[in-house]
Amino acid sequence: MKSQQFIERELTYSAHNYHPLPVVLERGEGVYLWDVDGKRYYDFLSGYSAVNQGHCHPEIVQALMSQVQKLTLTSRAFHSNVLGEYAEYITTYFGYDKVLPMNSGVEAVETALKLARRWGYDKKGIPNNQAKIITVEGNFHGRTLNVVSFSTDPSSRDGFGPFMPGYQVIPYNDLEALATALEDPYVAGFLVEPIQGEAGVNVPEEGYLAAAYELCRKANVLFIGDEIQTGLARTGKMLACDHEGVRPDVLILGKALSGGMLPISAVLADDEVMLCIKPGEHGSTYGGNPLACKVAIAALKVIKEEKLADRAADLGTYFRKRLQQLNHPSIKQVRGKGLLNALVIHHVNPEAAWELCLVLKENGLLAKPTHGDKIRFAPPLVITQEQLDESIEIIGQSLVHL
Ligand SMILES: Cc1ncc(COP(=O)(O)O)c(C=O)c1O
Repeated sequence: MKSQQFIERELTYSAHNYHPLPVVLERGEGVYLWDVDGKRYYDFLSGYSAVNQGHCHPEIVQALMSQVQKLTLTSRAFHSNVLGEYAEYITTYFGYDKVLPMNSGVEAVETALKLARRWGYDKKGIPNNQAKIITVEGNFHGRTLNVVSFSTDPSSRDGFGPFMPGYQVIPYNDLEALATALEDPYVAGFLVEPIQGEAGVNVPEEGYLAAAYELCRKANVLFIGDEIQTGLARTGKMLACDHEGVRPDVLILGKALSGGMLPISAVLADDEVMLCIKPGEHGSTYGGNPLACKVAIAALKVIKEEKLADRAADLGTYFRKRLQQLNHPSIKQVRGKGLLNALVIHHVNPEAAWELCLVLKENGLLAKPTHGDKIRFAPPLVITQEQLDESIEIIGQSLVHL
């Protein structure tokens, strides 16, 4: 079948809720993807940072293969012999008392929000049904009705009302606005991405996270870090909050927690917060299944064994420097941390970023525009400097077409 036929079949039978680049992929290994015609590409999206460990990492594949033949799902109606092992592994890894395992990222966000409300009522003493959560402009935390209720992106939100009450949206990177919002005694949590990924890799000013954490602590409000995209070595530290020595009260992980094998997410917190939720009050059929547990342990091991955080830090600095050196008139800004980066291009026309991605594709590199004039560059963290050099060459050649 030709690429176009694959695409037409997909469009005929699958909902039109995405706008993919016209490329049909059938194989991946490390930093590379191959299309159905055998053409090879550098993957500069990494499944929105789900494949930090590289495509089909052999150790994660091995963990999946060996567990898949033993036991894949028990539901939480019964214990399994691996949930405890995983829970001990991940809580020790990140230094929290407990983990609550879920599947997709947005489910973990929902879990964190439920936990914060519950803690607000049970521990902080907020009157019933009055709890508030502070969020920020430009946020992206997923697609459920609750989560789009506090989105400021019209394409996420418009036409999906009525919305969930109990949220206050303040500007990002604005400590004064946060301090004012925290004066309300009914605030239970502050939900924030340490770097806004979907909004176009918005890096807040240095010190923002540490100061925001301190304001929350003083106001007895939970600092909820959504590290679904920024965590797990992507920004050059295990967590993006580590850059400022911040330990979120509630930590949300997803994406690379499985290295791209399965939807696996997790919420981590200490007992004071986590034990507010009692049996029967929250859960998921697949959350914490034995297959996911083994895959997540393997995915986390690879991050440490291969020192992916250090690689991301060093190669990220190198990448941004090399992009700046291209000195191309179409480049407005290069920004990011570690290997979570964005190229902001000068608006030649509203389709310029999309058109550049089409040229990049022709030249063998896959990336996707985010919010008009920005292109995210986030390769798997196993990329080598040589591969990065070749990628920069492709980017340079492609910019010429703008
Ligand atoms: C910061 C952040 N939170 C939440 C999500 C939602 O994750 P999922 O698509 O797995 O529900 C994403 C996905 O892009 C994300 O980047």
